Amino acid sequence: MNFLFEKVAIITGASSGIGAGTAVHFATLGCSLALVGRNMEGLKKVAAECEERGLEADQILLVNTDVTREHQVESAVAEVINKFHKIDIVVNSAGCLTYGGLESTSEVFDDVFQINVKSIFTVCKAVEPHVSKSKGVIINVSSACSLRASPGLMIYGMSKAAVDHMTKTLALELAPKQVRVNAVNPGIIRTPIYEKTNTPWETTEEKMSIEGKKWHPLGRVGQVDDVAKAIAFLASDEGGFITGETLPVDGGRHISLPAM
Ligand SMILES: NC(=O)c1ccc[n+]([C@@H]2O[C@H](COP(=O)([O-])OP(=O)(O)OC[C@H]3O[C@@H](n4cnc5c(N)ncnc54)[C@H](OP(=O)(O)O)[C@@H]3O)[C@@H](O)[C@H]2O)c1
Repeated sequence: MNFLFEKVAIITGASSGIGAGTAVHFATLGCSLALVGRNMEGLKKVAAECEERGLEADQILLVNTDVTREHQVESAVAEVINKFHKIDIVVNSAGCLTYGGLESTSEVFDDVFQINVKSIFTVCKAVEPHVSKSKGVIINVSSACSLRASPGLMIYGMSKAAVDHMTKTLALELAPKQVRVNAVNPGIIRTPIYEKTNTPWETTEEKMSIEGKKWHPLGRVGQVDDVAKAIAFLASDEGGFITGETLPVDGGRHISLPAM
């Protein structure tokens, strides 16, 4: 079912993980894509997969952008408008996972907030006139860590709680323009993010599988597709009366007691 047919989506963090998976899923739904990231090799691979799923090369734009740089974000949005003339859907998936709390330096704190919070603020600011015109949708990739506190992840959890608050406030501010703003809050999803972090966790398949059973009542880690499908639902008219929602995609983690 091509339920995003003729829509135009910007996806940040599209070179890897949840952003990449969302791009590939959107490709199957007929959506033109602006894939935003810093890693052009990664973006090219994702674009090739989107073409395999049926998108024409002309329906894909690759934009080399550091989302923490306001001018680069503004140029990226201008580039998208220049090519596609509109923006219907914005998926803010660029982000980091950093382990740390009170023992962390203020530089670590600032970095996490710069990437996970300020970049979404900057992207939303840049796309607002365009989604207001198209009565579009914004979906922010938050985390289950915003809903449940996790020892060792204080700064990360705070950054995602800020994303949830931004989502709700922006939903109210843009509702009169018929723009919907929602977040998804994933649990542990198998992506390259675990290889990039400073966490003390082991990320072998075996260990991830144990963690999945421990933390998620559904007894497994999530896959990128689990999140991509929830994002597509919120982006589509199927979710047309939903705004300001923070949707857990976490196998029930947010309603469960702490793992023993
Ligand atoms: N995986 C999980 O278990 C999980 C759970 C809850 C929430 N999340 C959230 O989901 C989002 C996506 O994570 P993921 O698991 O898909 O991780 P990932 O595979 O590491 O992907 C992260 C993406 O963010 C991009 N990015 C990071 N900093 C950027 C910057 N300054 N400018 C432009 N792009 C930047 C990366 O692009 P480059 O290639 O350019 O670095 C990459 O495409 C993050 O916000 C994360 O916090 C993940």
